[in-house]
Amino acid sequence: MFTGRKDSVRIAASEEIGASRVLLAILLAAAVSASNIAQQDGEAAGAEAQTLDRLFGEVEQYFAQRGDAPDGVEMSRKSRALIAAVAASVTAKDFDAAATTASELNRNCKSCHRLYKKDE
Ligand code: HEC
Repeated sequence: MFTGRKDSVRIAASEEIGASRVLLAILLAAAVSASNIAQQDGEAAGAEAQTLDRLFGEVEQYFAQRGDAPDGVEMSRKSRALIAAVAASVTAKDFDAAATTASELNRNCKSCHRLYKKDE
């Protein structure tokens, strides 16, 4: 939001950069997760799921603090629920279910980008 004060513009810019860095880390972790699910490496996928849950916790906090993005909060929570479901499937060695839920997670990424990511 532009309020005409230089410092508030700077704060808004640094928040944007912060969100990008968090999400880029999510992408990298998600890519590792997907390859671990493909390789059926339960232990590594579980660790990635924990990292993803923490990162989406930060994304959720970012949207909650914005105060004008309830869908962003909701989709962050949905991401965390899907990540937990992937981890549970991997623990149960149900890798088909894990892969299906991972695809749903991926669709959820795109839904949020359509709403909140400016260049998509
Ligand atoms: C709750 C909403 C939301 C969800 C869910 C979400 N993203 Fe994003 N993502 C964003 C927003 C908003 C941006 C733009 C951030 C910015 O420009 O500051 C973004 C940007 C990105 C970027 C670009 C980073 C950059 O520096 O431009 C990548 C890569 C990305 N997301 C990957 C993912 C992946 C992978 C998932 C799913 C595992 C995901 N995101 C889920 C909201 C979301």
